[in-house]
Amino acid sequence: MNELLLKDVWFSYPGSNAPVLRGVTLELRRSELILVRGPNGSGKSTLLLVAAGLLKPEQGEVLLDGVPLQSQLPAARRRIGITFQNPDDQFFNATVYDEIAFALRQLKLGENAVRERVAEVAETLHIENLLERPPFRLSGGEKVKVALASVLVYDPDILLLDEPTAYLTSEAKETVLRILTDLRDRGRAIAITANDPYLMGYSIDKVYTLIDGRLQT
Ligand SMILES: Nc1ncnc2c1ncn2[C@@H]1O[C@H](COP(=O)(O)OP(=O)(O)OP(=O)(O)O)[C@@H](O)[C@H]1O
Ligand SMILES: [Mg+2]
Repeated sequence: MNELLLKDVWFSYPGSNAPVLRGVTLELRRSELILVRGPNGSGKSTLLLVAAGLLKPEQGEVLLDGVPLQSQLPAARRRIGITFQNPDDQFFNATVYDEIAFALRQLKLGENAVRERVAEVAETLHIENLLERPPFRLSGGEKVKVALASVLVYDPDILLLDEPTAYLTSEAKETVLRILTDLRDRGRAIAITANDPYLMGYSIDKVYTLIDGRLQT
C-alpha cells in the first residue's frame, strides 16, 4: 500500500514541557510527494523522526499501511528511508562507497550486485567522483547528495527527506526533484521538508505548513 498515517500525534522532547507537535494529523499516500514547511524550530525535523518511528509519540499514533508502525519494527525499517537534516548524523562509514553500500550489504546482496547498484545511484546523483572520499570531509551539498544516495540505493517505499535541497545548486536541485517525482510516479510515498522557494514552482502534490505544533494546509 505504501501509506503512512499520523493520527493526532503529540510529541515533547524529554525535559521540556512545551510539546513540539500538538496534535499533528498527516496522510502520506502512495504516488504522493508532499512538502512540509514552517519556521525554524517549528518541528519539521521532529515530525519526520516521529513518522519514521525513530521518536515515539507521547499521544496519537503512526500507522504504516493501517498497522501501528511500532509493532512492525524493526522489519519496517527496510520500507522507510529517512535522511537527517544534518547528514553528519547519519554518516558512519570510512568512504562514501561504503556509506551508500551499507544498506545493500545489510540486505545480504552479493558484492557484484552491490557495486552495480551503488554505481547506478552515484551516476544519477553525479557523485561518482566522491566514492572513495571520507563522507565527513565533503562539502555541504556533497553531503546532502551522499545522504540521499544512501537511502535511494535500497529503494524504500516511503521516503522522509529532511531538507533534501539544502546547500544544492539549482542544477542539483533539478536533479533531485527529477529523481523524486520519478519515484513518486512509480508508487513511492515521499515527504520532504524545506522552506526553499525553488520548490514552489515544482509539481508537489500537497504543501503543509507547520505552525504552533499543528499542520495547516
Ligand atoms: N534533541 C532535542 N532535545 C530537545 N529539544 C529539541 C531537540 N531537537 C529539537 N529540539 C527543539 O524542538 C523544536 C523543533 O525542532 P526541529 O528541529 O524539529 O524544528 P525544525 O522545524 O526542523 O527547524 P529548522 O527549520 O531549523 O530545521 C525546537 O524548538 C528545537 O530547539
Ligand atoms: Mg529541521
